[in-house]
Amino acid sequence: MTRNGDSNDMPEITILGIVGSIRDDSYNLALMDEAKKLMPAGAHIETFDRLDEIPPFDEDLEEQGYPEPVRALNDAIASADALLVVTPEYNYSMPGVLKNALDWASRPGGQSPLEGKPTGLMGASQGMGGTARAQLALRDVFVYTKTPVLPGPEVLVANAAEQFDEAGQLKSDETKKFVGDLLERLVEAAREAA
Ligand code: FNR
Repeated sequence: MTRNGDSNDMPEITILGIVGSIRDDSYNLALMDEAKKLMPAGAHIETFDRLDEIPPFDEDLEEQGYPEPVRALNDAIASADALLVVTPEYNYSMPGVLKNALDWASRPGGQSPLEGKPTGLMGASQGMGGTARAQLALRDVFVYTKTPVLPGPEVLVANAAEQFDEAGQLKSDETKKFVGDLLERLVEAAREAA
């Protein structure tokens, strides 16, 4: 029996969700919450919400041993079947807290849990581009870490303040469909990689 009540022989898929914004009223956090509701049967999202606890990457600190929040992040990535990164755009790129977490997770080189992990990207921004540039910057990072990122569908939520209602839910059925399609493909990729 799967989490959603469907009987089948396929194992439950765990997707690790990482939100690139650490503010309480984040639109990207709201987008991640929508994704949780739109997950296909037989899969669920667990979020890592401790980006603010991860210290600035420093090779000296790394030599002393990985800080506990970094170990928790690496363990969460390693034990997940796939990643879902939901990010704002800061100055046409990803927020520093997200890049910092990915820099830690990319270490030690050759043993990173990011290597080979199927990954989907989404984002919400107040601008017209809907995080297109931030997602491109993320794709560059994931080339180095050998992380296979789904080519699409691109989920770019522009003018975020107008896209969510007062309860923080997406208003547009079309946007929900893009999110649902991305999740379906991510679960497929996770099953293929398992
Ligand atoms: C922004 N914002 C922004 N928006 C955008 O579309 N493109 C951008 O390059 C930037 N740059 C930027 C830099 C900095 C430092 C801040 C604080 C903000 C606006 C951004 O989209 C908006 O604050 C979102 O609401 C942030 O996402 P969360 O926190 O709501 O998830």
